[in-house]
Amino acid sequence: MSNNTLTITDNRTGKQYELPIENETIKALDLRQIKVSNDDFGLMTYDPAFMNTASCKSRITFIDGDKGILEYRGFPIDQLAEKSSYLEVSYLLLHGELPTESQLKDWTWNITHHTFINESIKQVMDGFHYNAHPMGMFISMLGALSTFYPDAKDIFNEEARWKQIYRLIAKAPTIAAFAYRHRIGMQYAYPDNDLSYEGNFLNMMFKTTELKYKPDPVIERALNVLFILHADHEQNCGTNAMRSIASAQTDPFSSMAGAAAALYGPLHGGANEMVLRMLSEIGSVNKVPDYIKRVKAGEFRLMGFGHRVYKNYDPRARIIKQVADEVFEVTGKDPMLDVALELERIALEDEYFVKRKLYPNVDFYSGIIYKALCFPVDMFPVLFAIPRTAGWLAQWAEMLGDADQKIARPRQVYLGQRTREYVPMAERNGKTEGAIA
Ligand code: ACO
Repeated sequence: MSNNTLTITDNRTGKQYELPIENETIKALDLRQIKVSNDDFGLMTYDPAFMNTASCKSRITFIDGDKGILEYRGFPIDQLAEKSSYLEVSYLLLHGELPTESQLKDWTWNITHHTFINESIKQVMDGFHYNAHPMGMFISMLGALSTFYPDAKDIFNEEARWKQIYRLIAKAPTIAAFAYRHRIGMQYAYPDNDLSYEGNFLNMMFKTTELKYKPDPVIERALNVLFILHADHEQNCGTNAMRSIASAQTDPFSSMAGAAAALYGPLHGGANEMVLRMLSEIGSVNKVPDYIKRVKAGEFRLMGFGHRVYKNYDPRARIIKQVADEVFEVTGKDPMLDVALELERIALEDEYFVKRKLYPNVDFYSGIIYKALCFPVDMFPVLFAIPRTAGWLAQWAEMLGDADQKIARPRQVYLGQRTREYVPMAERNGKTEGAIA
């Protein structure tokens, strides 16, 4: 008998089953043979929120949540953040290797020459109310863009696939900046192809009357690091949405609109916005202990703390803390940083947080930097979505090439009523089982 197997005894029948173990997993479908009778459907696993279920095999991002390790294609995140550019990292995520000089030049050229959007898109944008949330506009614009590129449906054509990858990485900053300009009622600033990816984004966000926008190199570099840190994070909620939608062979623009919608939630990419709102609600360092007391009493969660995978300090939060120091040298220190540092200090010593392994996550400090860089709070989830584009697309392309993948379609444990006789209107008593669950 091979050792790399799992023996299961079904105590209902006394039967034994031997399941192969591969890559430290068993195949859920192998459980189907475990039946009480021939007409039994077979055993399933029950795993809401995928707490212990691998939905794919991947070679893109590695995380060891207990040790606080994050690697893209095997390269540690701190080395990439220190030495690389976001476009170089996006090439790495999508191609699997760091680019040579000429490969990076071609890649950059291709991205830079797809930054403009169709003029009609501006009319779609103009249809939004003046105070529309920029993330809502960003999500809608991704869906709208799919209507401009019918070739995006040609997902098994490699050339067409790369075209959409260039388009999406290039246009994400443009629609993000346009959403911001619409929100504040300013004319749109067009892309400037002389600037870096991050520099051009700053140009489209903040250019006013100057003939040529010159980004501050420290701010440009800080944005570059933040973009690298947010580029991918394996099978998180948004990426799972991307894979799930795209598994129906939906085009990548529409799939990415769904992924961005998942990212919008306050428990995911919307958390950095919530952190800032929380810090301004706390207001000053002396109010921190009382706030922590209320968190422990279960009134609300400490935003920017805790992670499904990291049960240690999020390595991205560590790097962001360093970037914050560099940014504050240019912009001046934000008093919210003191509130954040005190919150972190107390939480890291408190038994409630220690016992549950709750540490600051990527969102805890990113918002403070974004605020110092003059981004309004409601742009924070959008700033997360721009760099995540590369990760979503890498995961999408990987999924399309994976013969194991099919349309995503979970099972359920049905607990409702079965096969009842239809009740005529006059005989109904109006009682329901309960509220909508
Ligand atoms: N503040 C206070 N208590 C918390 C927090 C928090 N931020 N996070 C988790 N807990 C507690 C829970 O109440 C629970 O306690 P209990 O065992 O007494 O019931 C325990 O820790 C485990 O929490 P779960 O919700 O089971 O953990 P899960 O892995 O499902 O949640 C999540 C992870 C959603 C990130 C959670 O920690 C959270 O809500 N954090 C705040 C929001 C946030 O910062 N999100 C950003 C995550 S990073 C990202 O998406 C980019």
